[in-house]
This record gives sequence, structure tokens and C-alpha cells, in this order.
Amino acid sequence: MLRSKIGGIGYYVPEKVVTNDDLTKVMDTSDEWIQERTGILERRYGKKHEETTTTMAARAAAVAIERAGIRKEDVDFIIFATLSPDFYFPGCGVLLQRELGITASEAGALDIRNQCSGFLYGISVADQFIRTGMYKNVLVVGSEMHSMGLDFSTSGRNVTVIFGDGAGAVLLQPTEEENKGILTTCLHSDGTYAEKLALINPGAHGGYHAKQLEEPVDYGYPDSKYGDMFVTQRMLDEGMLFPYMDGQFVFKMAVQKFPEVILEALGKAGLKKEDITMLIPHQANLRISQFVQRRLGLRDDQIWNNIQRFGNTTAASVPIALCEAYEAGAIKSGDLVCLAAFGSGFTWGAALLRW
Ligand code: COA
Repeated sequence: MLRSKIGGIGYYVPEKVVTNDDLTKVMDTSDEWIQERTGILERRYGKKHEETTTTMAARAAAVAIERAGIRKEDVDFIIFATLSPDFYFPGCGVLLQRELGITASEAGALDIRNQCSGFLYGISVADQFIRTGMYKNVLVVGSEMHSMGLDFSTSGRNVTVIFGDGAGAVLLQPTEEENKGILTTCLHSDGTYAEKLALINPGAHGGYHAKQLEEPVDYGYPDSKYGDMFVTQRMLDEGMLFPYMDGQFVFKMAVQKFPEVILEALGKAGLKKEDITMLIPHQANLRISQFVQRRLGLRDDQIWNNIQRFGNTTAASVPIALCEAYEAGAIKSGDLVCLAAFGSGFTWGAALLRW
């Protein structure tokens, strides 16, 4: 049976380390609060105006392509997951193609807007393309340059302290080897709570605060001097162009959905939680990952956490963690690796891979 396997994997994080203490210089927060609630000690920020979501993705992709032993011109489809794209449109997929210098191939490029579970959705889509024989070398990338779009004042502290920049990439290829590669993927969404974790402005709705959904307010659309289509002066004046998160609500949903979708994937593949060798959860919050670990009865060496060093890198977090675990020798041939993610949308998913 034709399946897809990870032929190559790579990641990139910017050099600049931003500690919790660094953040205390610009907002009212503390190292103690951040560590206790999230487990985060530090995160990386890209170099403003030099690095972008696309350039970081290209660095990660180049490693994945080289490890897969192909030429970059052989990539026949690009899937790019991000919530912090270089442009509003077009998406980062075509920008990555250009950055890699492979436009001549005219390979297709697809952008995925599924935030923290974007990479899971990406590899599931790639897996279908490969299983049907449509493509042989599919590049799936998750990359985020959050630092360009966060509120560094105290009013943004509950969101800003969590996020970091980085990119991860895999090159998926077909395999006919027995019991190897992606065994199954499960994808879910529930739009009921779309505004619970969202950056809703700018948008074609004309602008409102996530908190004020019950009573929509007229925010001056469409008389902005910055352009009538999306951004209004009021949005700029009132700091409405930053992400909003109902942290406790997201937390409660995450600890429910992570174990649920992992058990669903195991059931679909005819496996049990005891069969998992390594769990790579989306790095949302160390407390969420620890809860999931306990629910599944996994030892400390069966879960990969790096949120302490990189924060939450959204679409990039799963491939960065997977790549780190692989490079550290924590994943070996034949191991059952479980990837899982939950985030804004809400969207969530899991994948089981035989390494
Ligand atoms: N530093 C110091 N104090 C902060 C703070 C910060 N960075 N952020 C919030 N606070 C304060 C709040 O203002 C609040 O103060 P108050 O009680 O005086 O009003 C208090 O801390 C508690 O805030 P709350 O938002 O209820 O904290 P929490 O315990 O829920 O922790 C999160 C906040 C964000 C760490 C937590 O909710 C979380 O991790 N949620 C999941 C988020 C997530 O995973 N997001 C990614 C999606 S996958």
C-alpha cells in the first residue's frame, strides 16, 4: 500500500533570544508568572525587516530538502501553514517558491490558515496527494513571525508572552514499505468559538472587538484614511489590530480535545496509547502538554517539550519539536510517533507515523 513518509525534516529559529525578564522591561509581567502558567523561559524573535515568515520557512525547507536527498527543483507541491503571513495576499506558499528559487517548475502552492493545527492539516493534505499518486515530493512548512504583530503593552501581556518565532518543514515522499510512514490522520474543527482566539481585524466585516461580539459596535468603517477596505483609523487608535485570546476557555478546550483526537487516531489505526513511543504535541502551554501526558500515561521521555526555549510558535511548533526530537536521537526507525495539535478556530488534529 502506498503511504507517505517523512523523507527529510528541518527547522530554523532566529538567533535573538528574548527572556521573560526582557519582556518585563516593556510590560507589567514577571518571569515567575510566565514560568508558572506556561512553562516558558524564553523565545526567539526574528530580525525585523530582514527575516520574515517566508525567509525563515526557506531556511527550514532547505534542510528538509537536503536531508530528503532531492534537488529543490524536484519539489512538486508546496503546502504552507501560517497565521503570520508576509502579505495579506498572496499567501506564503508562492513566496517560499520564489525564495527557494524554484518558480521555473511552476509547482502548485497552497496556503493553510489553521493556526496551531495548520501543520497537521498540511501533512494530512500532503498525505492524500501522495497516497493517490498525484505527487512525489511534497514540501509542508509551518512558519511564524509572531513578533511583528504582538501587543507589547501590558494590555497584550496574556497573549504576547506566549508566542515566539520560528519555522519547521518536512518533505513528504511515497513509500511502499510495510508499516512505515503516516498511518493515519484525524482532523476536526468547530467554528462556534472562532472569536475565542482570533485576530479579527482587519477584515471585510468592517471591524469589531472580539469581546464585543454580543453588541457589535460601529468602528467607523469605511472612512479610514488608511484605506476604506479593511483598516479604519479607530482600529489603529484602539489597538484592535492585535490578537485576542480567552486563555482559560482555550485551555479548557485544549485539554479536552488533545487526548480525544489522539485516542481517535489510535483507534483508527488499531493501536493503543501504550503503543506510542513519542508524543509531539503542539507547544501551546507546558501545563496543557503535561495534562495530556498524564491522561495518556506517558513517561517524561515519551513526550517532546521545547516550549520552555521557543514559546508557542503556532504552525511551526510541531515540525520544530519533531525535528529536534529526531536530531536528538529520541526517535528511531520503527517508533510510533504521534503528532497532535489544537488551536484557534477551533481546529485540531492528530497524526500517527511509523518512523
Ligand atoms: N503577566 C502577569 N500577569 C498576567 C499576564 C502576564 N503575562 N497575563 C495575564 N495576567 C494576569 C491577568 O491580568 C489576571 O489578573 P487579574 O486576576 O488581576 O485579573 C491574572 O493574570 C489571571 O489571568 P488569566 O488570563 O485568567 O490567567 P490564566 O491562569 O488563564 O493563564 C494563560 C493565562 C494564557 C497562560 C492560560 O490561560 C493559557 O495558557 N491558556 C491557553 C492558551 C493557549 O494555549 N493558547 C494557544 C492556543 S493553542
